[in-house]
Amino acid sequence: MQALLDAARAAQAQAYAPYSRYRVGAALATPDGRVFAGCNVENAAYPSGTCAEAGAIAAMVAAGGREISDIVVVGDGPELVTPCGNCRQRIREFATAATRVHAAGTAGVARSFTMDELLPASFGPAHLQVG
Ligand code: THU
Repeated sequence: MQALLDAARAAQAQAYAPYSRYRVGAALATPDGRVFAGCNVENAAYPSGTCAEAGAIAAMVAAGGREISDIVVVGDGPELVTPCGNCRQRIREFATAATRVHAAGTAGVARSFTMDELLPASFGPAHLQVG
């Protein structure tokens, strides 16, 4: 968990967030122990910005990974950063019943969730007979 948190923080430090000034880092682990990280990348055309989780998932998929064991999301400020709705669905695509989503702040991981807690009754690959 410490390695994931460190990777998420390192990615957070690289966040490109000149508009919101809200820097987010995410790091995920695959079942074989590989770690992939991402940060939010904002855009002058605001809706074109991407979340930290999206970057981490893209890196995993590009490396051939297809399953998330754990994902840590780290942000600053008094409110705990939990994945946005879009990112819950993005994580869901590669989640299992064992996947844990960890929300972290400056003091470290503050809360951990199952996918079902974050996105109950979710739509997933099985609906399309995939996976
Ligand atoms: N953000 C993330 O990167 N992940 C989330 O799950 C929540 C929001 C980013 C998007 C935007 O760059 C900034 O935080 C403020 O919404």
